[in-house]
Amino acid sequence: MESGQLKIEWARQYMPVLSAISERFKKEKPFAGKVIGMALHVEAKTANLVKTLVDGGATVHITGCNPLSTQDDVAKALDKVPGVYCYASRGCSVDEYYKAIDTVLDAKPVITIDDGMDLIHRLHTARQDILPGVIGGCEETTTGIHRLRAMASEGKLKFPVIAVNDTPMKHFFDNVHGTGESALTAIMATTNSLIAGKWIVVAGFGYCGRGLARKAAALGAKVIVTEIDPRYALEAYMDGFHVMSMKEAAPVGDIFITTTGNRDVITGEHMACMKSGAILSNAGHFNIEIDGTWLTAHARSVEERDGIQSYWIGDKVIHLLAEGRLVNLAVPKGMGHPIEVMDLSFAIQALSAEYIALHHSGLKPAVHDVPDEIDRAVASLKLSSLGISIDVLSKDQKEYMESWDHGT
Ligand code: NAI
Repeated sequence: MESGQLKIEWARQYMPVLSAISERFKKEKPFAGKVIGMALHVEAKTANLVKTLVDGGATVHITGCNPLSTQDDVAKALDKVPGVYCYASRGCSVDEYYKAIDTVLDAKPVITIDDGMDLIHRLHTARQDILPGVIGGCEETTTGIHRLRAMASEGKLKFPVIAVNDTPMKHFFDNVHGTGESALTAIMATTNSLIAGKWIVVAGFGYCGRGLARKAAALGAKVIVTEIDPRYALEAYMDGFHVMSMKEAAPVGDIFITTTGNRDVITGEHMACMKSGAILSNAGHFNIEIDGTWLTAHARSVEERDGIQSYWIGDKVIHLLAEGRLVNLAVPKGMGHPIEVMDLSFAIQALSAEYIALHHSGLKPAVHDVPDEIDRAVASLKLSSLGISIDVLSKDQKEYMESWDHGT
């Protein structure tokens, strides 16, 4: 078996929830005759989502959602699956990236699945010719949902989109545990640096940031959190982390990880006062959190190897991982989130796509929450795969919880 196929099979064995959904899809074929267009990180877990959709009767056209996150051997194996057309390649130029997005759209998908909203953005701008045939879409990540809500509030979103990211079964596990573990793993595997005893600066204490901060602390790091929201800053402080501004953290930090989904979080002003040997990385969706152009403009020389760009500025060196792109996927050793975490997120994707296929006619062009029954179904499937039982509300308990007429 070739390496891409082996990776897909390896992931499958730890994806019991998606496997159970595949078995049902094989019988019910909810996507019979439908084309699904996808722009996701093309690696082994995603390949299993694609295969699940194909089991449900879909034809899938897929490309990447980041120029550095595709695993070429997996893309090659996926392209050989009957019913799948894969256009992703690692290290593609920005032009090639958008050409691949256009090739997906040329297949006239009726359902879109995005991680970062690039397909939907293209559909509403350069490729409006395809818009009338689209019945709905699903969006995987925080940044994509921010963009979609902005579009919807301006009345520009033309079809219903399910906000997969915003459901508890996604962000409680994927953003917190998935990003927390995989970003630290990628940083450690790329730099071979010790985490214990280091000053780790985590920018943003949202779902991803709190996962990173907690896991870095569990490895013995001294964690500094930077925030712009006073409530999250206070929560970080009461969780035992050091809270300060990026300006104060810059000269202290050994390793920096941005997770804000915002731009210009680490700028030249900060980098100018960092220690020599500081390591900068980003776990947010786009490569705009760290100002790489400042480094390029101020460096007297740059060395590059295995996902590390080392910028010499005077007699000090600053290391940037993966060009500031999301570190857990974009460094050569980046594997993305752990398999078990993506089993849950992609189960939500598969069931949300099925929901669109079955219920699109009743959905307005807007950003919709994942129906609660889907979220609970995924949690129940996971618990049952673990052999864990939980209690069930009795009739009296249910009545009590729903009533306002009980006092002491
Ligand atoms: P979130 O909205 O829960 O957290 C972001 C936090 O950053 C908020 O608390 C916000 O107040 C803070 N923030 C915003 N601007 C800031 C600034 N200038 N300085 C400091 N803090 C600032 O979002 P979540 O779910 O944690 O996602 C964050 C980013 O990570 C998004 O871009 C998302 O798409 C991406 N993401 C990446 C994953 C990966 O595999 N690397 C997985 C899931 C999400």
